[in-house]
Amino acid sequence: MREVEGGGSPQKEGGSGHDISQFFEVFTRVSKAIHSGENTQEILERIVANIAAIFSAKGCIFWIVDQGKKSIENKISHGFSYRNLAEIDYETLMGIFAHEGGDSVFIEDAINDSRIPNLDKIGKKRVGSIQAFFFDIVRDFRGILAVYFTDRRQFDPAEGKIVRALGEQGAIALQKSLSFDERMLDTLRQMVEGFTLALEAKDEQTHGHSVRVARFARQVAGEMSLTRAQVETTYHGGLLHDIGKIGMNDHIIERLGILNRKEMDIVRQHPIIGARILQPLVFLSDIEPLVRHHHERWDGTGYPDGLKGSDIPLGARILTVCDAFETMLAGRKHFEKMKIEDAVVNLQLGAAKQFDSDIVLKLFTLLEKGQIEGCGTISPSYIQIHKRRLQESVSARSASLFI
Ligand SMILES: [Fe+2]
Ligand SMILES: [Fe+2]
Repeated sequence: MREVEGGGSPQKEGGSGHDISQFFEVFTRVSKAIHSGENTQEILERIVANIAAIFSAKGCIFWIVDQGKKSIENKISHGFSYRNLAEIDYETLMGIFAHEGGDSVFIEDAINDSRIPNLDKIGKKRVGSIQAFFFDIVRDFRGILAVYFTDRRQFDPAEGKIVRALGEQGAIALQKSLSFDERMLDTLRQMVEGFTLALEAKDEQTHGHSVRVARFARQVAGEMSLTRAQVETTYHGGLLHDIGKIGMNDHIIERLGILNRKEMDIVRQHPIIGARILQPLVFLSDIEPLVRHHHERWDGTGYPDGLKGSDIPLGARILTVCDAFETMLAGRKHFEKMKIEDAVVNLQLGAAKQFDSDIVLKLFTLLEKGQIEGCGTISPSYIQIHKRRLQESVSARSASLFI
């Protein structure tokens, strides 16, 4: 047996042949780390490294999967330096370890087992036996902890209990951090909404603008295979995108649209001021770039930094489209509110100039399905026409690149 952290005097458990005092040492340290709120990733790294060491295993991997989203959310591995099982995708992982009812799966002979695909790609040749254990975490999150041996080897019941106990600790650490994240998110949400109300109380014209932009943006982001956290960040970015106007002279805000050059320059500062307001708040750091860049344009002619195309953060590109869409529908002092059909035409015409075409397309798809709340209804066939025009202009542009 290899040395593990903590050391301790050897005491053998019947049948397992392992130094059980070392296991308790590790277990106690991990428990303390969980209760003192240490970094979850580090706790999981410690667990997989110690399981591999205690059992002289080739390697150990802890996957955290979201069964609702069918995705691998995190993976902590120890003992694998080559391209291997640590790199497989969700479907393959579940194919290998799909289990009915039991709390573990044993693959005695990995090389000849049909559940493990593509020998060379996953380094299967170097693996003898694999044993995997399953853990419930919270909601749709599950943990899969797999231990690999170069020879043929199965845990006896006592060893299985040790691995399970350590794996459970990983699940507890994750449960704690995920619940904590949720509480943090709630607090954050309340705070951000408070900020937004403070901002929009200043101007009756824009009242509710940020909330509507945020809601549109959350729906569009939800269509774009982003993580839950990224969708939330985009939503919060929507709520706060114009927070930089909070410090602006009321006189200027009231005259938006009929400003002179000097006043316009002041208004153009609001993304920078907004980002500056958020900068000291570490937990809003993901939102800051969205606020700073929500007036950039796809063709690089926007402000404040003149970023172009995919250099503009995705969340900011989503906000740009939703901001324009909401503003057109709501109207301002200097222009009448538009019919949704006209707003759609303007978005289509602005694609690849002001807007990211993919995001406009996503919004159109949601409108076509009637899934954007709070913007009125539009005929699906009207949307289909403009979707087609948008797609045609995108393919015409990409064809011209090869002429
Ligand atoms: Fe803005
Ligand atoms: Fe805005």
